[in-house]
Amino acid sequence: MERLVVEGGRPLRGSVRVNGAKNSALKLMAAALLADGESVLENTPRILDCLTMTEVLQHLGADVSWDGSTVSVDTRGVTATETPYELVRKMRASIVVLGPLIARFGRARVAMPGGCNIGSRQIDLHLKGFERMGAEFTYEHGYLEAKAPSLTGASITLDFPSVGATENILMAAVAATGTTVIDNAAREPEIQDLAEMLVEMGAHIEGAGTTAIEIQGTDSFRPVRHRVVSDRVEAGTFAIAACATGGEVFLEGASASHLDLVLAKLSDAGGEVAAYDDGVRVGMEERPRAVDFVTLPYPGFPTDLQPQMMALLSIASGTSIATENVFESRFMFVDELNRMGADIRTEGHHAVIRGVERLSAAPVRALDIRAGAAMIIAALAADGRTEIADVHFVDRGYEDLEARLTGLGAEVHREPARWPALA
Ligand code: UD1
Repeated sequence: MERLVVEGGRPLRGSVRVNGAKNSALKLMAAALLADGESVLENTPRILDCLTMTEVLQHLGADVSWDGSTVSVDTRGVTATETPYELVRKMRASIVVLGPLIARFGRARVAMPGGCNIGSRQIDLHLKGFERMGAEFTYEHGYLEAKAPSLTGASITLDFPSVGATENILMAAVAATGTTVIDNAAREPEIQDLAEMLVEMGAHIEGAGTTAIEIQGTDSFRPVRHRVVSDRVEAGTFAIAACATGGEVFLEGASASHLDLVLAKLSDAGGEVAAYDDGVRVGMEERPRAVDFVTLPYPGFPTDLQPQMMALLSIASGTSIATENVFESRFMFVDELNRMGADIRTEGHHAVIRGVERLSAAPVRALDIRAGAAMIIAALAADGRTEIADVHFVDRGYEDLEARLTGLGAEVHREPARWPALA
């Protein structure tokens, strides 16, 4: 329950290395379960969520070890097929072990995730997909029990291009008998990364990164060494922070093609953007201009950068409108931004952001990973000293953020919580 203390008003300048993607690494770690042996993932971010996935895999019997940003997952000891509530509660993404467990063992018992701070987040699309392939589910005492003695390829059209459902179904379909087609599939770069690793492991997949993924099942998978794709959300967070502070940063290892719309919006807001083979440079000299944006599945504007973009636009000249289309309650952090002097009103899934000249430091809290990042951006841009409570949320998705911001000239440090946690 630590807090971050930020002295605002200093432009971020310099170069920062972008880590491997959280949303890829978690799935790749789960995918290792498909093969019997040791898979090695390079460029894995050492963040709380990856440490939770480490615990999930260890609970199943895997031997997981870390050496810097390289994680080895040895699945030879995996015999258990249950993921307990304590772990799913810490991180909903724990449920991505469902697909590989069904594929390899024909059964799994996984705690049902509850709601979270950005919406209710069902997993019905995951389950419908598995059922189409022949899996059967029972639900009792908060646990889902899956039985699938054999999986058969099927034609599955998702109601919504869900990232998690696409990945979970993909990881089961690679081991099904026959052909599976996932239509209206999510197209995120992290899904392409997962498909690349699965293909290296022996899977037959075509069309990953498009809306129709075709999978020919196979029954033999080998352990592999794979490098996690760079984190476009982390890169976008640093890019927006640079713009909000009137600075300029080089995002080493960032892929401009994964950030197309984000960089275009930052340009529209008055930012300077230059893409290179080895990274992206982003800066802003003037006060940002208002821009409207709408979150959508990839290649739309990522919902995971919506809070950070709102923080930037809260100090823009003019009024912006943000529309959140992916999660139902992803504006809850707005009250925290308004405590810092922002003028944002929300109505359903729209937010009207009237830009103010300056934000003023105030005690605030991080409500989730990305809302926490937005509060840090607001604090970096604000006058005075902001204290951000509940920084453990930020640690779930960003490795060593204060050291990396300090390297860019920010004044940020961590302190113990002022008050002990209530419960
Ligand atoms: C992943 C990312 C998260 C990101 C999100 C959208 C990980 C670990 N997390 O989450 O950071 O914000 O993609 O880009 O990769 N839905 C259903 N039924 C389902 C599945 C999803 O109704 O079975 C709904 C959700 O409630 C949500 C929307 O679909 O409103 C998008 O969810 P989804 O794409 O599945 O997100 P996640 O995979 O959970």
